[in-house]
Amino acid sequence: MNLTFTEEQKMMQKMVRDFAQKEIAPITEKMDETDQFPRDIINKMAELGLMGIPIPEEYSGAGMDFTSYIIAINELSRVSATVGVILSVHTSVGTNPILYFGNEEQKRKYIPKLASGEYLGAFGLTEPGAGSDAGSLRTRAVKQGDHYILNGSKIFITNAGEADIYIVFASTDPEKGSRGISAFIVEKDTPGFSVGKKEKKMGMNGSNTCEIVFDNAKVPAENLLGEEGIGFKIAMSNLDAGRIGIAAQSLGIAEAALQQAVAYSKERKQFGKAIGAQQGIAFKLADMATEVEASKLLTYRAANLKTLGQPCGTEASMAKLFASTTAMKSAIEAIQVHGGYGYTKEYPVERLFRDAKVCEIYEGTSEIQRMVISKDLLG
Ligand code: CAA
Repeated sequence: MNLTFTEEQKMMQKMVRDFAQKEIAPITEKMDETDQFPRDIINKMAELGLMGIPIPEEYSGAGMDFTSYIIAINELSRVSATVGVILSVHTSVGTNPILYFGNEEQKRKYIPKLASGEYLGAFGLTEPGAGSDAGSLRTRAVKQGDHYILNGSKIFITNAGEADIYIVFASTDPEKGSRGISAFIVEKDTPGFSVGKKEKKMGMNGSNTCEIVFDNAKVPAENLLGEEGIGFKIAMSNLDAGRIGIAAQSLGIAEAALQQAVAYSKERKQFGKAIGAQQGIAFKLADMATEVEASKLLTYRAANLKTLGQPCGTEASMAKLFASTTAMKSAIEAIQVHGGYGYTKEYPVERLFRDAKVCEIYEGTSEIQRMVISKDLLG
């Protein structure tokens, strides 16, 4: 296993690191306060070609490998996990389902717009009664002539309201359970489609999380992805890679927490010396650094498998499980290192703590990752 970045990957890392510092860092605090979607940042990312990193050039993408894309999510998330998740959802589950399961006409129609950043993508799987048990979804799609009529609602949809297209999962044959689910490309101005309530969240402010509603929504039959009944497989297989994106996002948060904790440990003096000189703090930093490193190895190992076109579902779940746990632990420890200041908004560690929590929840909770991993072990 080669975990050394290629020259191209190193260039991506430097470019995104510089961009994040120059363009995103100055607005991170304000974005957290106002919960405003960072449209200007997304437009600038589009100009840099970041909205279609692993998409082939023939569809207006950057034509780079999956690992380069993961590097970008990692670097963005060190500065803003919000921007990291917007890009991750847009690419992994908003665009890739069309690339992998769309016909040539669908690819030509949608992917260049998504990859260039003209369109933003979203993914509609979760419902009020179907979260971890995604296969029990109830949104219905009934074929009527050259359209499908969709009824139902989806919740917690990242990028909703800002997205131009949604990959939506609905049952075309409820008797078949998860084998009766189909996937559709739904455009934002589809008659009968609307964006509902926007959630007020603990963290990830600036990233839209909304309900989407289908009230006799009229979706052209040509927007069915693949064939009827393979929707659940489309969702699951794209979530495999999506989870590597969330692992990279978690890694970015954990790295930022570590960086803040180290800087503060050197600067803050108590009992006549820097607090980092106290073993109680120094050992905390050592544990954080070790877990960050392990998260990095798991995340880039999973990314490398995906880059090589090999199965990566279990490794993706392991990376997401470990890196999201590490993000949460690192943020808690970084607050502890900062003492009372860590509990205030004067330092960014409290935001990292609020942003980290959802990494253990979305794109499959930690418990779901353990189900995926143990199923692989036990069959
Ligand atoms: N790739 C391809 N196919 C897969 C698959 C995968 N990774 N995992 C399962 N399948 C297929 C199975 O082969 C099976 O196919 P057959 O019916 O032909 O045999 C079918 O799907 C059903 O498989 P299971 O019986 O294993 O499915 P299950 O109902 O027990 O569920 C689960 C499995 C892993 C728990 C799944 O429901 C799951 O991942 N749940 C979590 C949902 C989730 O991650 N939601 C995230 C929402 S999106 C989001 O959060 C984005 C965001 O906003 C940030």
